Amino acid sequence: MAEQYFPVPLRRIGVDTVPNFDLFIKQKNRYVLYRKADIMFEKTVLNNLMENRIESLFVSKRDLKLYEEYRRQIVEEQEGVAEEKGFAGIFIDLEEVERYHEILDNYHVIDHSLFKPEMELSFAVYYHEKNDVHLAEDFEEKPEGPWQLTLKSFATDRELMIKNEDLPAYRSFVQKLMTAAGAGSVERQACALREMSKMVVKDVLDDPRSGENIKRANQTVDSMVEFILENETSFYSLMKISGHDYYTYVHSMNVCTFCLALGQEIGLPKSPDLEMLGLGAMLHDVGKSRVDPKLINKPGKFTDEEFTKMKDHVLFGVNILNENHDLPDKALEPVAQHHEKLTGIGYPYGLKNHKIGLFGRISSIVDVYDALTTERSYKKALTPFEALSFLSKTQKEYDQNFLTKFILMLGKQIEKGV
Ligand SMILES: [Fe+2]
Ligand SMILES: [Fe+2]
Repeated sequence: MAEQYFPVPLRRIGVDTVPNFDLFIKQKNRYVLYRKADIMFEKTVLNNLMENRIESLFVSKRDLKLYEEYRRQIVEEQEGVAEEKGFAGIFIDLEEVERYHEILDNYHVIDHSLFKPEMELSFAVYYHEKNDVHLAEDFEEKPEGPWQLTLKSFATDRELMIKNEDLPAYRSFVQKLMTAAGAGSVERQACALREMSKMVVKDVLDDPRSGENIKRANQTVDSMVEFILENETSFYSLMKISGHDYYTYVHSMNVCTFCLALGQEIGLPKSPDLEMLGLGAMLHDVGKSRVDPKLINKPGKFTDEEFTKMKDHVLFGVNILNENHDLPDKALEPVAQHHEKLTGIGYPYGLKNHKIGLFGRISSIVDVYDALTTERSYKKALTPFEALSFLSKTQKEYDQNFLTKFILMLGKQIEKGV
């Protein structure tokens, strides 16, 4: 059998470390040796890769154990440094926390894959780095725009953002791409759909009582289901998600995508099952709109009291949807049950085993997986392997059958080099 390769995002390879495994590069669907093991990974190598817009290198399956050990050492070292400085990986002062919330409030995170050189934009793009937001280089010279893209500033692993006030302009930009004749590759269509969905969820979280917002969420989920069913071979492109930081709208979109993928893997029919599962997953954290955003994005651990307040989001969500909308019970299941565990230690109901519905069991696996693999300003994300091995250890809490399917499904995704 041919050797398998697994993608490793560049940011996981430490500058000035000596990886003890070979690193490969993907060229026209072939994996070519890029750096032999035991050679220092210098800053110039990283810069060179970034200039060429390469975001990931690859590790062969036989070296995977070595890679995981290498990562473990890096994480341990980082934690050691943080502890020495006395802040154990979280922000040092309140001003920093304040700044972090300001960014969350005023900016919207976008995906760089929709942009092409020479496109003309009517909104400025920023990037998020070290708890600060900077105008991307392409936009610096002309304060008013419109801007012609060179993509210089988009070349890296940066998290791109726009100001909230530019959301309408961005929405019409994405809309145009979606409706343009021959909307481009499946990947671009998937990306446009993801970007649209994120904005729809954001609107729902801003105003969950609006019937119009729920209707649009419904339509968007239907488009996602259509997309997944129509593009079976390439549907993994819809799952190309990279989480840098925690935004409820990005998380909701991720959970919806993974639930649909797992639902399809299990063989659920399109209508009404996948549509209901997708809608419920998209709305699963809608109750967070009633929880103080500062609590949701609090760096570090919750106190017991804060955790109790956080848990309220589940029943808030169920109530908001019940009071304002006439959604089928099935669509409410992910909202009500995504924090339940088979052992009965979940919340809010402490349901056990078969008392947790099918959609509840699916969404609880996906929800925790996404939380674990999302990088937050104060905590490194787990790799998919680390997250899955964590989930395997807590398997009694999750449906064995679905968990196995989920792991196999993600394995396939990784194999495709997504
Ligand atoms: Fe939740
Ligand atoms: Fe969630």
